[in-house]
Amino acid sequence: MDKLVIEGGKPLSGSIVIQGAKNAALPILAACLLAEGTSTIEHVPRLLDIDVMLNILRELGCRAEHVGDAVVLNTETAHTSHVPESLMGQMRSSIFLMGPLLARFGETQVYQPGGCAIGERKIDLHLEGLQALGAEIEEIGNRIICRADKLHGADIHLAFPSVGATENIMMAAVLAEGRTTISNAAREPEIQDLQRFLNEMGAKIMGAGTDTITIEGVQSLTPCTYRVIPDRIVAGTIMVAAAATRGQVTLLNTNPAHLSSLIHVLRRAGVQIAIDGDIIKVGCPGRPRAVERVVTAPYPAFPTDLQSQVMVLLALADGVSILKETIFEGRLKHVDELSRMGADIRVDLNAAFIRGVPRLYGATVEATDLRAGAALVIAGLAAQGKTIVEQIHHIDRGYECIETMLGRLGARISRYSPVPKN
Ligand code: EPZ
Repeated sequence: MDKLVIEGGKPLSGSIVIQGAKNAALPILAACLLAEGTSTIEHVPRLLDIDVMLNILRELGCRAEHVGDAVVLNTETAHTSHVPESLMGQMRSSIFLMGPLLARFGETQVYQPGGCAIGERKIDLHLEGLQALGAEIEEIGNRIICRADKLHGADIHLAFPSVGATENIMMAAVLAEGRTTISNAAREPEIQDLQRFLNEMGAKIMGAGTDTITIEGVQSLTPCTYRVIPDRIVAGTIMVAAAATRGQVTLLNTNPAHLSSLIHVLRRAGVQIAIDGDIIKVGCPGRPRAVERVVTAPYPAFPTDLQSQVMVLLALADGVSILKETIFEGRLKHVDELSRMGADIRVDLNAAFIRGVPRLYGATVEATDLRAGAALVIAGLAAQGKTIVEQIHHIDRGYECIETMLGRLGARISRYSPVPKN
């Protein structure tokens, strides 16, 4: 398995262009199934998760090509709505293929995606939403069979503003008969991007970005060309890395409005942040200050996907901080790895009590999930000495060639791919 080898202690400096958003591209690629023909989705990053989605779409009979940063996807030849278990197991978020497949084919068969390192990852809200639209759902073992001769509009209330459930219901409702409302909907920028894409195809959706989304069903949709928003989590990761290494970095192709909660926390920690259009400049000449309380919650609150990264900054801060994770029940596994690098962190009731230390020390550590892996890379960049990060396939799911990206900012980082034993 590949590893990253990092020689820490060097401040990051320079400028970097942020990649397209993985969590916007994935549902948009799934939504292409709703219109027969060829759509072109631009600004799609080259990531393991994107590859898995394209392989699933090919397995369903679509023709997909990743040309430069654009995906050209012809869904005309799609001939089945059954997603293979082996491919579903590679990426949990393939569960939001249910909505478009049900809307297009009237039936679909998928598999329980199962839990992962960060939590149980239930899908009850997805299934309840599809049932409200008229779907009949049968579960046989871990197989889920979903049928609907005709989907009809419904008033759906989400018990929790689930991102994936909001997206699944939106995609199922666009071709349903009548009006659908989703209350307590997720408000993430990726939901707003999906609305823009679906409306570009001829859908009639309003309200994404607020807690109530209204969808007027239409007869059909038309393929289109669409450019995906910048990845706010990749941008946030770079911002924290710049601060943790006491560097000076300029980020290009960002949407600062999507990062307000992170910017607020970083400024409270004493990080200097200047915004000019889609450019964010980050600098942290001295030791960061502790931040009394940071709590993850649904957008626009502090994102769970930046929790592990900001923990590294707080682990180096002057003082005591509390970082509370409220979205996932298993998303503090990086604490043990950071402690092995000298961090002073105690966990209780899904909250981390962080006493900042002047420095971290290089060690061999293991990525347990995508964002925890990114956090360990930041820790390695800031630490004194050499860090080896193992299981970096997790990181490759969400960061386009992370060592090249950070190397351009002066990081001493390289990928080590062991020669396969023959
Ligand atoms: C999306 O996952 C993102 N993934 C996640 O990013 C992100 O962490 C998460 O939203 C929260 O912002 C993609 O967009 C591909 P949820 P999703 O449904 O849709 C519970 C990353 O690092 N829940 O909002 O799976 C669930 O158990 C990934 O890029 C139910 O109980 O998140 C969790 O505790 C990680 N029932 C909470 O809601 C359901 O039916 C949030 O889940 C669905 C969810």
